[in-house]
Amino acid sequence: MSEEKKIESLQKDGQIFQPDASMQGQAWIKSMEDYEAENKRALDDPEGYWGERATDLLSWFSDFDKVLEADYDKPEFKWYQGGTTNVSYNCLDRHLTDGRRNKAALIWQGEPEEDTRVYTYQMLHTEVCRFANVLKKKGVKRGDRVSIYMPMIPELAIAMLACTRLGAPHSIVFAGFSSIALQSRIEDADAKVLITADAVLRAGKTIPLKPNADEALKDCPSVEQCIVVKRGGNDINMVEGRDSWWHDEINAEDITSDCPYEEMDAEDPLFILYTSGSTGKPKGVLHTTGGYLTYTAHTTQYVFDVKDDDVYWCTADVGWITGHSYIVYGPLTLGATSVMFEGVPSYPKPDRFWQIVDKFKVNIFYTAPTVIRALMREGEEWTKRYDLSSLRVLGSVGEPINPEAWLWYHNNIGGGKLPVVDTWWQTETGGIMISALPYATPLKPGSATRALPGISAKIVRRDGTEADPNEGGHLIVDKPWPGMLRNVWGNPERYKSTYFAGFPGAYEAGDGARVDSDGYFWIMGRLDDVINVSGHRMGTAEIESALVAHKDVAEAAVVGMPHDVKGETIYAYVTLKSGIEPDDDMIKELKVWVRKEIGPIATPEFIQFADGLPKTRSGKIMRRVLRKIVEGSDEFGDTSTLADPGVVTDLVEGNKELV
Ligand code: PRX
Repeated sequence: MSEEKKIESLQKDGQIFQPDASMQGQAWIKSMEDYEAENKRALDDPEGYWGERATDLLSWFSDFDKVLEADYDKPEFKWYQGGTTNVSYNCLDRHLTDGRRNKAALIWQGEPEEDTRVYTYQMLHTEVCRFANVLKKKGVKRGDRVSIYMPMIPELAIAMLACTRLGAPHSIVFAGFSSIALQSRIEDADAKVLITADAVLRAGKTIPLKPNADEALKDCPSVEQCIVVKRGGNDINMVEGRDSWWHDEINAEDITSDCPYEEMDAEDPLFILYTSGSTGKPKGVLHTTGGYLTYTAHTTQYVFDVKDDDVYWCTADVGWITGHSYIVYGPLTLGATSVMFEGVPSYPKPDRFWQIVDKFKVNIFYTAPTVIRALMREGEEWTKRYDLSSLRVLGSVGEPINPEAWLWYHNNIGGGKLPVVDTWWQTETGGIMISALPYATPLKPGSATRALPGISAKIVRRDGTEADPNEGGHLIVDKPWPGMLRNVWGNPERYKSTYFAGFPGAYEAGDGARVDSDGYFWIMGRLDDVINVSGHRMGTAEIESALVAHKDVAEAAVVGMPHDVKGETIYAYVTLKSGIEPDDDMIKELKVWVRKEIGPIATPEFIQFADGLPKTRSGKIMRRVLRKIVEGSDEFGDTSTLADPGVVTDLVEGNKELV
């Protein structure tokens, strides 16, 4: 049977993939009965459950005396009050005496095949302590923010852990963001130090990074020091008194590997990570120490069923939440071996991932649907050249994984037998919320399956009443969990209005979903003006304000257009100021402009010039219509409130010419 036929019949039959019975005995969660029992316990007695998980998974210097204090009205959530701990202690120090001292903590594969580095827990501990001493020497103290703008090199993980050792919250900015995006994030976090590199190695090219940092720092008076890792070896400008090389700092005579950790309160800030919303500038999502670490360790253990001799590989970039939680904090807290890869899946050939799986005999592999779809296009012969038999669990994150990609992953990478766990979560949730457990949950391709134990996820209507089975609605979580965000940095108003105002007494995810009659979640995507490009979250408002900041643009509206590989791609409607020629040169100029304002990931793939946009009489752009046009649909719904319905016909024509 062809793959398409199989998918058709699978959807018709509602085929369910049962867990491998031979693996259940050794799993953390062994069966659905196990899951149901754990879920019941966690929902009936959340404090008992999460208290136990926190003591099982973390080492505390002083015990917490209250598991949770929750106030949805304020809103304010405090986990593990009275408890003190330190993240780098949990990720490193304690493994020096629990038998893991010489175990590989981090296996790093650089983009050039010959660039491999392995850090044992002891080695990583030494490097982290040394670098923490460098930061101290630079004046970094508990509570100071440190911005990090780096490629996927071990120094990135070392820098993060060094910050946590000192209790200095880090704010990582993905290295694909532009200088302007970096500048606004440094400014918002009011960071004291920036850690960066000379360049990023990507797809065989050396892409200078330091010039972006230089540009950003022109307008960042808070940054006193900038530490630069040499990666590309390209010529860069070093500003005297401000910039210094990582290798010089770390090898200075006064830098030792003895660096005491700070005893942090459970609710002390751990990091800020900026994420796009539907309006305004990106929000600095704040995560704190005890709850976040408990939750990432807990989910890494249950969802990936991590065991001590596993080699675990999450392919995300550490610049996003997936990399924070599932390359660094979750795996290292558990004392696991985490693989970090600098390169891309398709360079030098589309077999790079499988070659690495074979090389390190990876057991657990976690990637994104967009990667699977891109590699699927290249054909399965690339997967056949390698021995993938070490693999045991496959994971997916970032967007819904369509059944076709799910099956391809299961069949070609998983040899037709491995579980694919589709994990739904967000920057704000800190860790995975809805996912299968690999040896317990029967799988339905395309569904993220059930909420994890204790996660009270529900689908509700706008009025807050619970939706019927299979009725689409808003995804909310109406009980707190330890990994939830604690604030929007510097903007508690926005914290409240974005997440807790829509449905009183609950966290609002911003996603639409339905639950089928078996209690399985089917995520439908964002309900707000956020689009998902290759698993990256982009605010349409952010791209629009970048476009209108260009001198020739009068107005812009951005929507997500369905895309076979990326999930969605960026489509911009632009009205130019009068007298400006809407030609190809202008399209190029605007694309370059957006790259500069935000970064390559925000560049519109299509720019359609339009004389007017569909607006209601009160002047509101009817985005629904713009979305329908890029979907190639003519079912615009009720357009009677449009000021000028004729605009729509012109836009449809323009779209046909462009796509
Ligand atoms: O729309 C959902 C989608 O990604 C959004 C969160 O994006 P971000 O904060 O960047 O975190 C991405 C990685 C956790 C969600 O609101 N999303 C993420 N995972 C899935 C998903 N949509 C469907 N299925 C998923 N497994």
